[in-house]
Amino acid sequence: MSNNRKEIGPYDYIEYFKRNTALMVSMERNGNLNVMALDWKTIEELNGNPVIRAQVAYSRYTYQLLTEGVNEFTINIPSENNYEVVDIAGSYSGRNTNKFKQAGLETIPGKKTKVPTIKDCILSYECQIIHTSKSNMSSHHYFYGKILTAYASNEIAK
Ligand SMILES: Cc1cc2nc3c(=O)[nH]c(=O)nc-3n(C[C@H](O)[C@H](O)[C@H](O)COP(=O)(O)O)c2cc1C
Repeated sequence: MSNNRKEIGPYDYIEYFKRNTALMVSMERNGNLNVMALDWKTIEELNGNPVIRAQVAYSRYTYQLLTEGVNEFTINIPSENNYEVVDIAGSYSGRNTNKFKQAGLETIPGKKTKVPTIKDCILSYECQIIHTSKSNMSSHHYFYGKILTAYASNEIAK
């Protein structure tokens, strides 16, 4: 497969998913993209579907896009030495900053989703939101994205 990555099963290489901060990409209806840093994430099963559960605070622009924009997101795991990108994605808001431009991120069109994945990540997942629920523990909302396809870079998938 091109772009130095190959398609994998939803639970493959999960240790990297658990260990590293993710970059979550969401999309406005008009196609504009946003990215935010996401630590609160799990891979689990919902009604027999492999899902990523992402916990997103109400104050995030990402929350607005996940509820008012395209009903999909992608999760991308950068390699551990990519602190700068995580820093930018996690400290600016897409309301007033184009974080893709600022962090120099390139995208790869989704195969199953309108939302693209991020180039040069060790893992990426294309997800469709199939359920949401309120967290009673904090000011966050849970988004359950069914994993439609996933990719691992050649760096980890030898
Ligand atoms: C390492 C790291 C992890 C983070 N994890 C989460 C998270 O799991 N959920 C969340 O709502 N915000 C999290 N944040 C905060 C958001 O990434 C941050 O508020 C971001 O600026 C929101 O961007 P947005 O307004 O464009 O959506 C994290 C920030 C950092 C630096």
